Amino acid sequence: MSLRVAKGGEADSFAQQKLNNDICEIKKSAKYSRSKIFPEICSMTIPEISIPITEIPLEKNIKLFIKREDLIHPEISGNKFWKLYYNINQYLEQQPEHPFIVTFGGAFSNHIAAVSALGKEQGIKTLGIIRGEELDDRWRKNPTLIYAHRNGMNFRFVTRGDYRNKESLTQSLQKEFPNALIIPEGGTNYQAVKGVQYMLNEGTKSFDYLCTAVGTGGTVAGLSKFAEEHQQVLGFKAVNDPTLDDEVFRLSGRKNYKLFEAHDGSYGKITDENIRFINNFSEYYGIQLDPVYTGKMMRLIFRLIKEDFFPENTSILAFHTGGLQGISGANRMLEEQDRPLIRLIKS
Ligand SMILES: Cc1ncc(COP(=O)(O)O)c(C=O)c1O
Repeated sequence: MSLRVAKGGEADSFAQQKLNNDICEIKKSAKYSRSKIFPEICSMTIPEISIPITEIPLEKNIKLFIKREDLIHPEISGNKFWKLYYNINQYLEQQPEHPFIVTFGGAFSNHIAAVSALGKEQGIKTLGIIRGEELDDRWRKNPTLIYAHRNGMNFRFVTRGDYRNKESLTQSLQKEFPNALIIPEGGTNYQAVKGVQYMLNEGTKSFDYLCTAVGTGGTVAGLSKFAEEHQQVLGFKAVNDPTLDDEVFRLSGRKNYKLFEAHDGSYGKITDENIRFINNFSEYYGIQLDPVYTGKMMRLIFRLIKEDFFPENTSILAFHTGGLQGISGANRMLEEQDRPLIRLIKS
């Protein structure tokens, strides 16, 4: 079964995408060469799978469901897939002779992992601009960076100061690699927001609340932009960044969302309470959450339910946006600190 597309006008783009896939297959079989170096490169296609929406039973007159967007792709998981979708396809439409993607991220970045996997899958060279020059000597101890490197990604480690100065960093990279696709941190830009519409479909229309974790804001902005009139979007901030509200509004253009502080003080901070919650959640519901985004979102949703934030008879849909690759890095750190570990559901 194919993924159904939410908006009327988008049905055309789905048909167009199917057509593109067919053309791509024909080009491949005819040994059509988009690029002399990477003859097999084709656009990203919408996976033909049905994403489950699973109920999380509650002892209240409220319905809570989780949409397993993390299952959209084994390695480009959750929102990462959709944020990359239009960015990559628009770039490849220009038929670059030597496709090359440059992007940014921290040491445990899900986005870096996803872009490296995409590069491997499509045969596109990738370069990760990684925050923290100290990692230059240590990256071989970092599971995310080892994974990205195995996927063929090269790295450049930059100081936190240079990393913060993203505009000038991007400009100098674009000068150095004029034909490269430079994707911002977390993949967030207008193209990313457009791709997030595919997280919504016929099956998501009736929910009263749409919930997602927030990092750079692209996902919550996309949900806000493409939500139904009656739906309220709730974003759970994994980053302590007061500018996010303005950024989400800039990207979405609607004011149908509310952001909550879910970060426990700072990005990437993992409290024992968070670990306990994730382990209990996987034990009761059989769903693995990550410690940086989805675990924090779910924990706060549960607290809001307990505090009667949601009116009776309302329904909540939380998006599982992936990020599970980050658990091994988190567990490594927790082990060093002699703290309880995040249990992994055996698949
Ligand atoms: C697992 C996970 N959830 C949520 C987010 C937040 O997405 P955004 O950066 O679009 O706010 C990210 C970052 O991409 C993520 O990796």
